[in-house]
Amino acid sequence: MSLKQMIGRYFCMHISDGGVNGRMSCDEKDVLSLSDEVGESSDKDMISQFQGEGQLFSNIVGYEDIKKLFYLSLYSKERPVHILLVGPPASAKTLFMLECMKLERSYFTLGSHSTKSGMIEYLFEKRPRYLIIDEIEHMPLKDQTALLSLMETGIIAETKFQKARNTQLKTWVFATSNATERMLTPLLSRFLVLYFKPYKYGSFKEVTVHLLCHGEGIAEDIAEEVADIVWTKLKSRDIRDCVKIANLAKTKEDVKWVVETMRNYSRKSK
Ligand SMILES: Nc1ncnc2c1ncn2[C@@H]1O[C@H](COP(=O)(O)OP(=O)(O)OP(=O)(O)O)[C@@H](O)[C@H]1O
Ligand SMILES: [Mg+2]
Repeated sequence: MSLKQMIGRYFCMHISDGGVNGRMSCDEKDVLSLSDEVGESSDKDMISQFQGEGQLFSNIVGYEDIKKLFYLSLYSKERPVHILLVGPPASAKTLFMLECMKLERSYFTLGSHSTKSGMIEYLFEKRPRYLIIDEIEHMPLKDQTALLSLMETGIIAETKFQKARNTQLKTWVFATSNATERMLTPLLSRFLVLYFKPYKYGSFKEVTVHLLCHGEGIAEDIAEEVADIVWTKLKSRDIRDCVKIANLAKTKEDVKWVVETMRNYSRKSK
């Protein structure tokens, strides 16, 4: 899948109320055993191909242990192991989710756009293998309950207008969050929760240089200058600051000037 298609899916996929036409049959029973889910072996082939060629997560610098955990989760046979990434801004959480969208039958949504009825409708209709929820903490608490049974047993059930239906899925849930305070305790308990620490100077510089040189086509010495000055003068730990500054500056002098101006107009300046 091309990056363009991925981004297209990123912005188009909103699981919200009324998004899918509400067809529902009376007493519909669609219970499958987990092994009945189609595409299991082809998924594994694809995952090993991604792993072999280093394609999955190839855009992410570092985090080798986290990448390995994702692979282990994707290979888990009996039951899906769901993963939640929690961490500060610009620590590559969304990047992990975007990479997971390379997997077949993966579906992306934002927590803020996900309601319980929209989610249930979507699960019945699309039967996703990988449900990817960015910023899950913005999902209202009452809507988070939609995930509890899916993640524990794979069963989803609904009774609406005196009509009942249920089904069973084998769906991995991968999600991100800045914090866990706004998440249901039982939901948290269903995830393997990984807390990202803020970058230390070495990783901050490595990620910045990689991103600016490969992603933005900026010369290495300028990229290094940006990383240094953002860390030391701006006291920022946000990689996004480096990208903004690099896009405004052509020379090291420009970098210094942009950062000085940002400092003059920062909240802390008098
Ligand atoms: N380890 C990394 N490898 C490659 N790029 C990175 C890494 N860490 C941060 N970035 C870059 O930083 C920017 C922000 O990353 P991302 O959107 O994944 O952050 P996030 O953790 O989801 O932040 P937020 O909590 O604000 O949503 C992106 O441009 C991303 O490419
Ligand atoms: Mg994010």
